[in-house]
Amino acid sequence: MSQWIDAVAADEVPQDDVIGVQVQGLDIALYGVNGEIYATDNLCTHGHARLCDGFLEGHEIECPLHQGKIDVRNGQPTCQPITEPVRTYPVMIEGGRVFLQID
Ligand code: FES
Repeated sequence: MSQWIDAVAADEVPQDDVIGVQVQGLDIALYGVNGEIYATDNLCTHGHARLCDGFLEGHEIECPLHQGKIDVRNGQPTCQPITEPVRTYPVMIEGGRVFLQID
């Protein structure tokens, strides 16, 4: 059953930037975009690079290793060499905290 997990304080997620957090043993990237917060797995689906070390521009995260890109809103690749989507997590902000829905 999926549940909402308290991840971090909302103000720890920088606007127009990305951070990596550990939530229930999962490595997750949190992105601040236009006042919204999005969450994906932190590991690139192309290789062993952490997306939190990449460069966020608008809704796209550029992987630091081979410069593939993913849309952080839906996890879909937008630039080669990434071809596999990255998993995304529903986000809820309540009481100044960021909650993620994790199975
Ligand atoms: Fe991310 Fe290759 S590891 S693009």
